[in-house]
Amino acid sequence: MADRYDEDDEPAPNRPKWIGWALVIFMLLVAFGVANVGWLIMRPAPAASAMDEVMKARPELAAGKALVEGSDCMRCHGLTRSYVGPAFEAIAARYQSQGDAIDHLARKIREGSVGTWGNVIMPRHPQITPEQAQQMAEWVMAVPPAKAP
Ligand code: HEC
Repeated sequence: MADRYDEDDEPAPNRPKWIGWALVIFMLLVAFGVANVGWLIMRPAPAASAMDEVMKARPELAAGKALVEGSDCMRCHGLTRSYVGPAFEAIAARYQSQGDAIDHLARKIREGSVGTWGNVIMPRHPQITPEQAQQMAEWVMAVPPAKAP
């Protein structure tokens, strides 16, 4: 019994101080890492916020934006990423210097397209009126254009 008592009573081993500091630094790094990952996940995509700026400056584009979002466009197009079809920022960049770009694209939206970007077909959208297509094309051309590669 006396032996056991002695064992319990042993003073805590004298850990060097740096272990405590190392633990504190380690935990700070973990906390920073978690916060950093959280920021990376939560921060708005730069292109999306650039588009928000455009929408604030040109509220008349809201109708076109709503039409694009309400139709099937985003199933094949992204603002900055090409899925089935080219990214809207790439389309905006391509036609930046073309005077009749909006008319041209409005027509393409209604009649469909193939061969301009590749051999994937963009289907026709006959249910979209010429006026709606025009508004959609205006919105597409207002997307901040992709930088030339
Ligand atoms: C099924 C997939 C799909 C859907 C849905 C779709 N697109 Fe496309 N889009 C494409 C593809 C593929 C191309 C490239 C066609 C080509 O190479 O000529 C394209 C091209 C375009 C172009 C560029 C045309 C050109 O002459 O450069 C515009 C503008 C466009 N789409 C807008 C839209 C809008 C607006 C909608 C919604 C009403 C939409 N797209 C829906 C696949 C799609």
